[in-house]
Amino acid sequence: MTQSLITNSEMETIDAGEAFSKNISAGAVVALFGDLGTGKTRFIKGVCKGLGVREHVASPTFTIVNEYQGTEIKIFHFDFYRMKTSLELQEIGFDEYTYDDGVCLIEWADRVREFLPPRRFDVFMKLGASENIREIMIEETSA
Ligand SMILES: Nc1ncnc2c1ncn2[C@@H]1O[C@H](COP(=O)(O)OP(=O)(O)O)[C@@H](O)[C@H]1O
Ligand SMILES: [Mg+2]
Repeated sequence: MTQSLITNSEMETIDAGEAFSKNISAGAVVALFGDLGTGKTRFIKGVCKGLGVREHVASPTFTIVNEYQGTEIKIFHFDFYRMKTSLELQEIGFDEYTYDDGVCLIEWADRVREFLPPRRFDVFMKLGASENIREIMIEETSA
């Protein structure tokens, strides 16, 4: 599965995340790549909405991971923007999260690239030609 789309507003990116959530099931890992402000958190909000999360979804700031409960599955929302060394991955037991039945949604995935499981979805996000445009590419890895 590879999919390219362009969104024209924050809401469209949330909707794209919600639509994409139909592809994921227990244990899925979704790695999001893209600079600050490209919409990673908005996309994740949509994924969580699609999975039935009712809590507020925002990037974890004081911790590396937030946990939400969806209708059927748990969601782990990571943000590695502030991570200094990969030792922190061991401290939080990152591996175990990726083996868990819960869904892992990972912002700044490029910072943990070598620790990502081979089977996952990659979501690449870029700023578009004008302020509210974002380019999104979703790829299911084949490993
Ligand atoms: N098409 C769009 N998709 C997503 N966000 C958009 C879009 N257009 C403008 N924005 C704005 O860009 C910002 C994206 O923020 P956020 O989702 O936190 O990005 P990131 O997590 O990648 O840093 C928000 O302020 C949002 O309102
Ligand atoms: Mg973010």
